[in-house]
Amino acid sequence: MLTSFHSRPGRRRFLAGAAAATATVLAPAPFVLARPAPIRIGVLLPYSGTYAMLGTAITDGMKLSLAQAGETLAGRPVEYIIVDSEASPQQAPQNTRKLVVRDRVDVLVGPVHSGVALAMAQIVGARGAPLMIIPNAGADALTRELCAPNVFRSSFSNWQTGYPCGKVMADDGHRSIVTITWRYAAGDEIMGAGAEHFEALGGRVIKHIRVPFPDVSFQAHLSEIASLAPDAVFAFFSGGGAVQFVRDYAAAGLKARIPLYGPGFLTEGVAGAQGEAADGIRSTMHYVDDLDIPVNRRFRDAYRDAYGREADVFAVQGYDTGTLIARSATAVDGDTSAVGDMAAALEGIRLEGSPRGAWQMSPAHNPTQTFYLRDVVDGRHRVLGVAAEALADPATGCTLA
Ligand code: BEZ
Repeated sequence: MLTSFHSRPGRRRFLAGAAAATATVLAPAPFVLARPAPIRIGVLLPYSGTYAMLGTAITDGMKLSLAQAGETLAGRPVEYIIVDSEASPQQAPQNTRKLVVRDRVDVLVGPVHSGVALAMAQIVGARGAPLMIIPNAGADALTRELCAPNVFRSSFSNWQTGYPCGKVMADDGHRSIVTITWRYAAGDEIMGAGAEHFEALGGRVIKHIRVPFPDVSFQAHLSEIASLAPDAVFAFFSGGGAVQFVRDYAAAGLKARIPLYGPGFLTEGVAGAQGEAADGIRSTMHYVDDLDIPVNRRFRDAYRDAYGREADVFAVQGYDTGTLIARSATAVDGDTSAVGDMAAALEGIRLEGSPRGAWQMSPAHNPTQTFYLRDVVDGRHRVLGVAAEALADPATGCTLA
């Protein structure tokens, strides 16, 4: 059930503390300046386990964006309250309540894992506050039947990342595939979208192989793929699991015989660690390292200078999350209790300054964006073309529009 947003108070809450204290104490008021309370950004992302590198890149991208905004929003300093989600859906309700109820954060950012996101968004959507920005998790329901006025996504829906790849595999002349992924919402939805598109174009799925999350015991499954001998394999893994899968796939001798495809997560942020095993893997994604636009070049240079690492799509999603926080907070002049007004500032917003290229927030609060076909050469992603221009999630069941 949705509750209404907090209304904007007559007096600014963030100035109230120090100013009220000054009024009741017989102090020389003219010399006491009210110090704005910080804007508290609650962050629930993985910093341990298979998705740790994703959580770190998102956090770094967001911090870079807010540092470029001067570490203050409408005069209020920014404060982060960071919790390790451990990519655990079981712990998500408790972690969410800690940030929202106990710490009373002004904005909630997270998570990476679709299962964690479903738990978070149901709590935050039902409360109507605070503003929540999802910087990765793609669970389709978040911007379909579970969409909520105060919940926005700066990343993608799972459907968007899998769907274009179905056509890529068909266009490459493949007629049969095996899908392999972790068994949870992201794996099922990404593989489902790509497989459905592939079948609609005349292809056949021989088998869907599912592995418990975050298991990386792939050997038996790779033997099965070798014996099924599909034309191609369509896979979703990310982070540490993707490093292991792509290396094991090559070590099992499959790379040369059965081309491997996936959403870009299969190699994103980890192509260096995968080494030669990643070379030539074709994938679809809403970002490519060498996207030749000035804003991407500036972003990559600034990220490298700040952290000594190359940026990836997760860093981009974090960066755009920072931009959305800044736009919404400045729209209400720092009064983050005006959640409805903050959300209104993000309705239909077009992010011209995104390193992935301009994208638009859909009525269901999900990016409408371009998906590229890429491959990997010597540890770097290269643009091969556009796989789907301005692709919008179907948003089935969302009543926001
Ligand atoms: C997800 O759980 O939604 C997800 C995790 C990693 C990469 C992409 C999607």
